[in-house]
Amino acid sequence: MTNLFDHCRAGETANEMNLLVVNDNMTKLKQDQQLLFDQNRIDYQVISDLYHSRLMKVCSHGPEKAITKHRERGKLLARERIDLLIDPQTAFLELSSFAAWDQYDNSFPSAGIVTGIGIVHERECMIVANDATVKGGTYVRETIKKHLRAQEIALKNKLPCIYLVDSGGIFLPEQAQVFPDQYGFGRVFFNQAHLSAARIPQIAVVMGSCTAGGAYVPAMSDETIIVRDQGTIFIGGPPLVKAATGEEVTAEELGGGEVHTSISGVADHLADDDVHALKMCREIVAGIPRVKKREIDLKDFEDPLSRDDEIYGYLPVDPKKPIDMHAIVGRLIDGDFKEFKVNYGNTLVTGFASVKGIPIGIIGNQGFLTAESARKGSHFVQLCNQRMIPLLFLQNITGFVVGKKHEHEGIARDGAKLIHAVANSTVPKITVIIGSSFGAGNYAMAGRAYDPDFLFIWPHARIGVMGGEQASGVLRHIGSNVPGNGLAGRFESESTAWYSSSRLWDDGIIDPADTRQVLGLAFSVTLNQDMQKASYGVFRM
Ligand code: COA
Repeated sequence: MTNLFDHCRAGETANEMNLLVVNDNMTKLKQDQQLLFDQNRIDYQVISDLYHSRLMKVCSHGPEKAITKHRERGKLLARERIDLLIDPQTAFLELSSFAAWDQYDNSFPSAGIVTGIGIVHERECMIVANDATVKGGTYVRETIKKHLRAQEIALKNKLPCIYLVDSGGIFLPEQAQVFPDQYGFGRVFFNQAHLSAARIPQIAVVMGSCTAGGAYVPAMSDETIIVRDQGTIFIGGPPLVKAATGEEVTAEELGGGEVHTSISGVADHLADDDVHALKMCREIVAGIPRVKKREIDLKDFEDPLSRDDEIYGYLPVDPKKPIDMHAIVGRLIDGDFKEFKVNYGNTLVTGFASVKGIPIGIIGNQGFLTAESARKGSHFVQLCNQRMIPLLFLQNITGFVVGKKHEHEGIARDGAKLIHAVANSTVPKITVIIGSSFGAGNYAMAGRAYDPDFLFIWPHARIGVMGGEQASGVLRHIGSNVPGNGLAGRFESESTAWYSSSRLWDDGIIDPADTRQVLGLAFSVTLNQDMQKASYGVFRM
């Protein structure tokens, strides 16, 4: 059984009698803490099991009928394609698997698109794969958000993009949510133009349909592979052509592989099947000149001996109970945590460490933010920017401290300092919501609006402007007509990690036990960035 309590020490100055009492109390404390740890572990296992069963569900693609049809056409499933594309035995950092979860009657698992970072010929690449078993690989609002987010990450981290295309374009019944706005479907191609201008390689592998606007995915890529008798690219499919011009033409005659590699030139390489196409894609990536990653002083490290799921023991499932930030940090980092300002503003834990050899600065909450902890956080963020050290934010924050005394002392001014520091920070930032993410605490701790390079959330975590009880209390107090009880329930259901991830307010729900691995991959990706020197605005003193 794990022993957690090496930090509990008996008082050395106690006399013998006192020592006996202290020892008794310590034994009792240790027993209580061990019981709590064991109970947390059991409780969190239930959450983890639910998470994994849901993950399995969304990762098993569309309905059985669609999978059978897909396979009968000799096609591989989206995740099988990715498995063949990336280097054997390497990890794929999948993003936002729960996009569109519990929306559209759950008929869009993973929003019908798989995105993530995989290693191809030892190079980190952004992979975007349509899932044709989900409504023909068509795009709803979340599919587009996910595609755009993948391109955004690729642009920032200079990752070559590989598009495994198999899509019927826009999901027509949702066109109003998908087509007209700034970040609608058209933004995919806008981004492709910008990625290209930034000299980021883009390769399209057309493995199925590529209709209407979707035709621009291969047409705007640097190099395009198309699968014979399977891939098609056209602006208007055969039914549209018939309606518009009366011309009768098959899909293959209109825009199949032979047409595009020998007549139109829209595609460059003709593959025999999925496996062949993926092999060709790997060869193209191998031929792209390498760009060196930022050189840093990587630390030697060994993975901890403790089991990864030991972290569950430190996670009370009741969000009102505190989480020991030092214990969590201890389960994520390589070795030592060199704490900064250990005795000051201790509702915020700050310090230096490394994850998988990559030096980082960590900022984690140990209670609400006070004036001292906000100042401490601002100092630490500036310090990391000065030294070009990436930042990890571990959010478990109910907000800033409230009350007359604190307002009179200018808590708003100190909170603003932290928000300034985080907003203008230019080192890579990764945020993990490990518990609560409420109110302005979300902003100061690099919430989504603060452009963290990656933002992950744990399955039990909660995010919202405030808790449901507080919100209904506020409304009661101001005499609102909105029924408080109904609102509290709505706040609760809209604050879950599932609700958040479904709408892409994050880059995915991850298991606490996998977090160290995920952070290692994500920080490694950020080493591809050029770091700019931070420049700060006016800090009120
Ligand atoms: N909008 C809404 N639903 C669509 C769709 C679209 N653009 N394209 C396909 N679907 C739906 C189908 O209705 C079907 O739904 P169901 O499972 O509830 O019955 C499902 O997706 C699968 O389509 P199906 O035609 O049975 O699959 P397929 O693999 O034989 O063909 C396509 C897939 C994409 C080639 C074909 O559906 C197609 O040509 N769609 C129209 C494409 C188009 O014109 N898009 C223009 C929009 S920009």
